Amino acid sequence: MEHLINNQVKELQLSGIRQFFNMVAKYPDAIQLTIGQPDFPTPEHIKEAGVMAISQNKTGYTKNAGLDELCVAATNFIQQKYDLTYNPKSEVITTIGASQGIDIAFRTILEEGSEVILPGPVYPAYEPIIKMCRAIPVYADTRTTNFKITAEQIESLLTDKTRCVMLPYPSNPTGCILTEGELADIAKVLQGRDIFVISDEIYSELVYGKNHCSIASFPNMKEKTIIINGLSKSHSMTGWRIGFVFAPETITKHMLKVHQYNVSCASAISQWAGVQALTEGLNDALPMRAEYEKRRDYVYGRLQAMGIDVVKPEGAFYLFPSIEKFGLTSNEFATRLLQEGKVACVPGSAFSSYGEGYLRLSYAYSQEVLEEGCNRLEKFIQSL
Ligand SMILES: Cc1ncc(COP(=O)(O)O)c(C=O)c1O
Repeated sequence: MEHLINNQVKELQLSGIRQFFNMVAKYPDAIQLTIGQPDFPTPEHIKEAGVMAISQNKTGYTKNAGLDELCVAATNFIQQKYDLTYNPKSEVITTIGASQGIDIAFRTILEEGSEVILPGPVYPAYEPIIKMCRAIPVYADTRTTNFKITAEQIESLLTDKTRCVMLPYPSNPTGCILTEGELADIAKVLQGRDIFVISDEIYSELVYGKNHCSIASFPNMKEKTIIINGLSKSHSMTGWRIGFVFAPETITKHMLKVHQYNVSCASAISQWAGVQALTEGLNDALPMRAEYEKRRDYVYGRLQAMGIDVVKPEGAFYLFPSIEKFGLTSNEFATRLLQEGKVACVPGSAFSSYGEGYLRLSYAYSQEVLEEGCNRLEKFIQSL
């Protein structure tokens, strides 16, 4: 029966990250620098709220958009943190992680032949969904712009088919952010054009040394922007699966239909934990962020001392060094680093062809693990 499988789906490849994980599993003594999730446990008070929800039988379906309490807490959160105003009754949807938010956003706005401009290298989950919508990913090569998509690049890629610009900052895999000035330039290019922006801000609480800024805060941008956010990274809640989309009602009322027929609602138990996270735990990310920042400085310093070319990340918990000078593809480099050096990192090619020649290191690991990982990496490089 395989010949009857949808062609778009048949052509999709398993994520390069997952493919690499399968190989890593065969090297239990390897130091892991692969995972894109916080190494801290979910804060106690949030876990207790989840347990309480179960014991109080708050275990049924909720409204499609999520509990009223959670919608209020989520809109308060982005108001307080990023000065963004959304109506809790009509401009937010609680999703199953940011992932489902991305899915319903694309499926609501894309049609066959729609073009989506996105930076390369990029998080690998966008392109498959774009393609399943029969739309076309159009990459801006950000390797020469410090991994930041620029207003000029966007302008040069615009066509009458452009439906959406994807802004995934702070970035996985590069850790780069867009500054207020850079976002203002992009907003200027998009002003007066009927083009959506999907702004994946899942790492918004993990920006170092400055405040996160959203494209939606610029004049006339809110009306065309869909913000994706969630609790996975900010509150170390990847397994609870709580995300949010924020957008004007003209967009959310359509997204809500896709969401409703797809999943009905996010888990009620996780939603109650989310209410706790966004009321009593508004600043839970801060101590974790301080720790990540120290680790970033440590690993960045070690890479520099090894003579490796790397852009200093300003957010998230990844570094994306160039390994081009070693004359190996990123897959060859990552495979040999795993087999010979006993360190697991993700080959840059997992993040589109624009990631070829790079390696993604996650520093969501303890200082001891990072030290040993860097020592091994150094030794491996010397052996090449
Ligand atoms: C840029 C980006 N967006 C979205 C997600 C998915 O987040 P969630 O686990 O909340 O679905 C990730 C996870 O790594 C990510 O890196």
